Amino acid sequence: MILPGSDTNSIAVSADGIRAGRLLGLPTETVYGLAADADNDTAVAQIFVAKGRPADHPLIVHVADASAVDHYATDIPDFARALMTAFWPGPLTLILPRRPGVANAAAGGNPTIGLRCPSHPVAQALLKHLLGTEPSQANQAQPAGAGRVWGVAAPSANQFGRVSPTTAAHVQGEFGDDLLILDGGACSVGIESSIIDCTRGQPVLLRPGAITPEQVQAVCGMKVLQKEELSAQDLPAPKASGTLESHYAPQATVRLMTAADLQTALQLLGKDAGQADLRPSIAVYSRATFKKLSAHVLYRRMPLDAASTAQQLFATLRDFDAQGVKLIWIETPPDDPLWDGVRDRLQRAAC
Ligand code: TXA
Ligand code: MG
Repeated sequence: MILPGSDTNSIAVSADGIRAGRLLGLPTETVYGLAADADNDTAVAQIFVAKGRPADHPLIVHVADASAVDHYATDIPDFARALMTAFWPGPLTLILPRRPGVANAAAGGNPTIGLRCPSHPVAQALLKHLLGTEPSQANQAQPAGAGRVWGVAAPSANQFGRVSPTTAAHVQGEFGDDLLILDGGACSVGIESSIIDCTRGQPVLLRPGAITPEQVQAVCGMKVLQKEELSAQDLPAPKASGTLESHYAPQATVRLMTAADLQTALQLLGKDAGQADLRPSIAVYSRATFKKLSAHVLYRRMPLDAASTAQQLFATLRDFDAQGVKLIWIETPPDDPLWDGVRDRLQRAAC
């Protein structure tokens, strides 16, 4: 069932569901999450089952603000605190040493925990309600800490390996009408948060997103390592779905091509006049435009800037699937750090 996220009653009903150990479809500014009380291992176990995700792949825990961080994490380095101050609430996840005994299932048993403070107003309203810091709750006679939920574990609300959802309808398509979903509109960022590992003495980029290594570096005053440099140091990294080679994949086969290769391929296709079945079987998503496309081709223009492309990327891939195309040909994004997040998702979709 989809509830309007802007309605305070929807927030209260959703918070009750979380407290009772149920799952919730939650809008964030990046993608929608499938949320459960991060301190309730039984509820968190249901997330893994619903997604078909291996139980040792850690989930991100979402908090209302930095005040909930010490509940989950310990030995927090100064540079991680600086990143919270600079980028929270926002699309940045920090991997920190986990406080022993807390959120074991959410962390997939790892000694570390991923924390993020989302900026989406609906996510903020829910998290503040759960923490008991909403202004409307100030006068309620509750013993301190009663029913308090410090944060929610929420991976992207899609089946394991599939394209992340950026609307409430996408989430409903993944999990059906039994799941309670808060509608927060279309996500403004559109790809998952940047993930910075803060447990290795120096920031390490585990997943590119809207916040770039350059921005992180400017705040920490430390070089941001790439995770490839990490394995060179022979340090074990936990299993992490978002970093698997094949992920974010639509049903159709995705191929990344240069504009020139696209042009050549489309010219070859052009000679299909006279075929009976004119339903599009190939989708093209590119910044380049082409003249006289075959009726078999469904063309969608890729925006010229990375942020707009990220915002519509997953919805576009889902739409191509819904149109029944078998192939998706995508123009390779520009070789520019601003496009790293989009390029990363496309490369995984193309595996
Ligand atoms: O934008 C986002 O981050 C979205 C929204 C819902 O907030 N969430 C999201 O969660 O993408 P999920 O579960 O699909 O991605 C979780 C990823 C893991 O695949 C892994 O890469 C990383 O977060 N992660 C979480 N906890 C970790 C840990 N303890 N150590 C290393 N990586 C971790
Ligand atoms: Mg995911």
